[in-house]
Amino acid sequence: MPDRTPKTVIISGGTDGMGRATALERLARGDRVTVIGSSEAKGRALLERAGSPNLRFVRADLSSISEVERVVAGVFERHGSVDALALFANRVSAGRRETAEGLEHTFALYYLSRYLLSHRLVPLLDASPAPVVINVAGVGNTAGRIFWEDPQLTRRYGQVRAQLQAGRANDLLGVAFAEWAGSRARYVLYHPGFTRSGTGGHRNPLVRGSIRLLGRLFARPVPEAVRPIVGWIDEPPGDPLTAVDRGRPVDRSLRTLDPGEAARLAAYTERLLRDRSSRR
Ligand SMILES: NC(=O)c1ccc[n+]([C@@H]2O[C@H](COP(=O)([O-])OP(=O)(O)OC[C@H]3O[C@@H](n4cnc5c(N)ncnc54)[C@H](OP(=O)(O)O)[C@@H]3O)[C@@H](O)[C@H]2O)c1
Repeated sequence: MPDRTPKTVIISGGTDGMGRATALERLARGDRVTVIGSSEAKGRALLERAGSPNLRFVRADLSSISEVERVVAGVFERHGSVDALALFANRVSAGRRETAEGLEHTFALYYLSRYLLSHRLVPLLDASPAPVVINVAGVGNTAGRIFWEDPQLTRRYGQVRAQLQAGRANDLLGVAFAEWAGSRARYVLYHPGFTRSGTGGHRNPLVRGSIRLLGRLFARPVPEAVRPIVGWIDEPPGDPLTAVDRGRPVDRSLRTLDPGEAARLAAYTERLLRDRSSRR
């Protein structure tokens, strides 16, 4: 029998798309849900739609390290434990943009915010009887890589390059977390497949319209894509790391899940964070 006791759930990128659907599903089960997003208007609309005292909206730009740190501090103030952390926040950047902290925007938002939330919330996750982290990205896709010669993409930026690099970085984050974070939290890497969400991110209205049309024709409905996520929160998998691509387990010998690469990326990330602290 799945555990039906109310959970404490933190959702990054929960104001729209799959994160929003997950938030509403979990609220319907009686969970206490904190949703983080950058749009005040979307946050307010969700609060209205849910009409639940169990929902909290935190407005934050997760591409900023200091904003992620503020979010983490707020979660520690409010909760003694966290049962589930679900990571959805992402946005396509047509051109190369730097965050206030000098990092490439997609790297900072899609990968680094997830790295920080996963690691910094470990004490609260470990205080839960059955903690789980669910990172929703593109595991199983082998396109793209970490551009070790220039991870901040200062020379050859492309939106697809940036998305694929950050997607591969999330794969490696899962491997590294399960191996070395020393947490009881189960880590789930989940690729939902083409889903009827995430169409608002493109600035070009023609591209936006085409994606919407393709979505209506070929994409999975959002409730179907989030069903496994909702289930993993009830019942985390037994293994430290689970990788699922559209319902199928991902071959763990894929080069995109290589532990050596995962250790290298974790070391690069820690160096970035140390350099920033020493500059402050
Ligand atoms: N949709 C698909 O077909 C598909 C396929 C494969 C993988 N995925 C992956 O699945 C995940 C979720 O996708 P989705 O389709 O649900 O995306 P979505 O509908 O575009 O939602 C993205 C979420 O990220 C938040 N966000 C964006 N920038 C932010 C920022 N700077 N700070 C804080 N929050 C921010 C957005 O909220 P605000 O607007 O409030 O900031 C929104 O809640 C993504 O990682 C995506 O790459 C999606």
